[in-house]
Amino acid sequence: MLKPNFKEARSIDKRDYQTKEFTLDPAYQNYFLGKTYFIKTYGCQMNEHDSENIEAILEELGFKKIDDYSKADLILLNTCSIRENAHNKAFGMLGRCKHLKEENPHLMVGLCGCMSQEEIVVDEVLKNYSWMNFVVGTHNFYDIPRLLVSSLKEGLQVEVYSREKDLIEQMPVSRKTSYKAYVNIIYGCDKFCTYCIVPYTRGRQRSREKEAILNEVKDLVQQGYQEVTLLGQNVNAYGKDLYDNYGLGELLEDVAHLSISRIRFVTSHPWDFNEKMINVISKYKNIMPSIHLPVQSGSNRILKLMGRRYTKESYLELVKKLKDKIPRLALSTDIIVGFPSESEEDFEETLSLVDICKFDNAFTFIYSPRVGTPATKLKDQVAEKVKEERLKRLNEKVNHYFLENNQALVGKTIDVLVEGNSLKQKDAYFGYTDTNKLVNFTGENIEVGKIVPVTITCAKTWSLDGRAK
Ligand code: SAH
Ligand code: SF4
Ligand code: F3S
Repeated sequence: MLKPNFKEARSIDKRDYQTKEFTLDPAYQNYFLGKTYFIKTYGCQMNEHDSENIEAILEELGFKKIDDYSKADLILLNTCSIRENAHNKAFGMLGRCKHLKEENPHLMVGLCGCMSQEEIVVDEVLKNYSWMNFVVGTHNFYDIPRLLVSSLKEGLQVEVYSREKDLIEQMPVSRKTSYKAYVNIIYGCDKFCTYCIVPYTRGRQRSREKEAILNEVKDLVQQGYQEVTLLGQNVNAYGKDLYDNYGLGELLEDVAHLSISRIRFVTSHPWDFNEKMINVISKYKNIMPSIHLPVQSGSNRILKLMGRRYTKESYLELVKKLKDKIPRLALSTDIIVGFPSESEEDFEETLSLVDICKFDNAFTFIYSPRVGTPATKLKDQVAEKVKEERLKRLNEKVNHYFLENNQALVGKTIDVLVEGNSLKQKDAYFGYTDTNKLVNFTGENIEVGKIVPVTITCAKTWSLDGRAK
């Protein structure tokens, strides 16, 4: 058994890791032929992409995916630790699995993802869920085949590394669509914002070698993919741990030359945005004019307590530079309300920042204390009622700007990547603009996976309506 430990996860000494290629022990190939699996993914895009790898690995074992968990032979939860509610949802699901296991003793259940990296979660599993098959961490989920097979003879297998292990290339992947793909460029995070659990659950910052990334994108182009999203908790730090003069700007430029129609990247930390990146984004038509730039708070006092390493003023300066240089830029953000000691004045600083930035999209959260992070030790935790009231006021303001920005698009014709048939309306489709806005539209001879010009006819807060030309 290998349990995680946050003290070790926090250590910042550089550790040598190796790049290795994924191999599946031939003994496991089709070991579970005829069995079915259900996977539930709770987290961010990185977790979703991990699930795409895990699904492909399970399929090499012979498993077939199904959507009804109550009929599956294996239930796998790919979990998220970012806020308390993600935690609670996963434990709620484990409770339902427990009932199913009582009826069907052959049911296999596994836990992976960020919650597996938490000491308190593993202790809880050992205490109350020891009937499960395995707990595997974010650094070694490729080991699921071995752990699952061992569990059949030996019972619960817990194998979680506190720190990053080897960087694995050539992992099999079962992508959700044939036109949009995620590509990892950097794993982990070294920023240690005081509220955030990610550096503990995902380890130190590790960039993939540029050749591996470019080859993956080339492959996707050949397969006919239209869009790639370059992924990392902080993509703007790309390359810092590997190269002297090669960062996100250089990588974006090299990817832009590969003739893929759309390039996106998430998430950007404001602190690491440099001129080269801005110039490259503005220069290439296939780099989408859409940037996710989490601000978290508009109060300098709170930003300092959060350890974000920028000020309201420097954030606004960066936003101005981006808007000046990148025509039609759509800017989105993340905001936390109710960080410890946040006063009404601090909160109003956040509202005033929203008034200046007029975000196109914003994910707003109530601060959720995460065990093991420094912010839990700060005095003056804000009362739940106050947090809720601030979230409501903030949401009213951000929604106002979403609608205003969308209204400005009525009458304009914008390229939309078609994703499918609209759920609400017959003969209607939906897709996303280059600026990452959802559009429901009508038209003739529309093909999923193609990019079509759509004239916007109506604006709503969270979507647009239109008609293909
Ligand atoms: N790496 C990205 C995002 C990480 S998690 C970044 O640095 O911006 C996504 C968002 O969850 C964060 O931007 C933050 O707004 C929110 N978040 C993280 N920890 C949180 C916590 N303890 N409580 C509430 N929201 C949190
Ligand atoms: Fe978390 Fe993002 Fe801060 Fe990293 S940069 S610690 S992922 S909020
Ligand atoms: Fe959640 Fe882990 Fe992503 S905590 S947000 S799944 S990195």
